[in-house]
Amino acid sequence: MVRRSLNNIATRFFGLLGPENAHDMAIWLLANGLVPNYREPVKAQTKNQINLMGLSFRHPLGLAAGFDKDAKALAGLFRLGFSFIEAGTVTPLPQSGNIPPRLFRLRDDRALINRMGFNSVGLEKFSRQLDSWREHQACEGDIVGVNIGANKDTEDKVSDYVLCLERLANSADYITVNISSPNTPGLKGYQKGSNLNRLLEALTNSRLRKRPSLPILLKVSPDLDEETLTALVQSSIDSGIKGLIIGNTTINRPSSLTSRYKSESGGLSGRPLRGMANESLKIVNTIAPKDFVLIAVGGIANSEDVRERFSGGASLVQVYTEFVYRGVNLIEDILADLDK
Ligand SMILES: Cc1cc2nc3c(=O)[nH]c(=O)nc-3n(C[C@H](O)[C@H](O)[C@H](O)COP(=O)(O)O)c2cc1C
Repeated sequence: MVRRSLNNIATRFFGLLGPENAHDMAIWLLANGLVPNYREPVKAQTKNQINLMGLSFRHPLGLAAGFDKDAKALAGLFRLGFSFIEAGTVTPLPQSGNIPPRLFRLRDDRALINRMGFNSVGLEKFSRQLDSWREHQACEGDIVGVNIGANKDTEDKVSDYVLCLERLANSADYITVNISSPNTPGLKGYQKGSNLNRLLEALTNSRLRKRPSLPILLKVSPDLDEETLTALVQSSIDSGIKGLIIGNTTINRPSSLTSRYKSESGGLSGRPLRGMANESLKIVNTIAPKDFVLIAVGGIANSEDVRERFSGGASLVQVYTEFVYRGVNLIEDILADLDK
C-alpha cells in the first residue's frame, strides 16, 4: 500500500516536469540506485518463466527500447521488476538527436509523440556502460537486449548496423535491428526490397563471424501493409532472423486524438497505437512458423492487453508509454493479474 502511494506521488511529481526533464531525472535516479527495490516481491509473485531464444525469462514483461538509450540505468530498471530490458537505440558515433522540444505528452489520449532522432552516447561509451553493468551489477537471470541503429549522416546504413552488431555480439543477450524509427530519414526504407536483402545478408555474415548463436530480431513499424510484412517475414526466416518486435511508433494520427500536441511530427505511442500493433501482430502470426519469435509492444496498458497479444502469437511483451504514466504500479498490476 505504502509502495503504491509512493509510486503515485513520484509519477505525479514527474508529470509536473517537462517530459524530457522528467525522463532525464528518472534515468538519473535509476542510474544512482535511488529507487526502491521491487525485485523480491516481483520474483516471489512470478510463475510465468519463459524459455525462448536460448534465454530464460523470469516472466514475459520487459521494457521497450528508447527508455534507457545509453545503458546507464540497467541496475535500477531491473530493481523495478522488469524481466528484460532493451537498451538503445545505440548508434555507432555519438549524436545529439533532434533539437528540443522533441517529446510531447498527449495526456488525454494516454499517448506520447516523440521525434528524439536517436540521441546516443555512441557505441564505445554504450558498450563500456553495458560491460560495467554486467561485471558489477547484473543479477542472475537479468536479460539485456540491445537495439541497434544508424547515424543520421551515414548514407549506407548497413555498415552502421554491422559495426554495432560486431561490437555488441558478445555483450548483448539478443540484438534488435531497428529499421522502423520514423525519426531518422531513410531508416524505414530498410524494411523492404533490395535494402532489406542487403541488410539481412550483412547481418547474417557478421553473426556467423562473431557469434553464430546470437539471436537477432527486427523491429518493425506498425504502419506496414500486409504485402510488405509478408515479404519481410519470409526474407527474415530465410536469413536466420529469430523473430520480430511488433512494433515501433506510428506516423499515423488517428482521428480520435484530442490532445493539443496531436499534430506534432514524430512517432505516436501509447493507447492509440494498440489496435494497429495488434493488427500487425495478427498478420505476422498467420504467416510465420511457430518457432518464429514475436515480441509485442505498442499500447500495452494492462493484463488484458498482454493476454490479447499472447493470443495473437506473442511470447513476450514490452511497455513504454504506459510505464511513463503509471510507473512501477504498472509492472506490479500486470504481473499480479497474469498470475491469477
Ligand atoms: C520517447 C520514446 C523514445 C523511443 N525511442 C526508441 C528507440 O530509441 N528505439 C526503438 O526501437 N524504439 C523507441 N521507442 C519506441 C518504443 O520502444 C515502443 O516501440 C513504442 O513506444 C510503442 O510502445 P508503447 O505504446 O508501449 O509506448 C521510443 C518511444 C518513446 C515514447
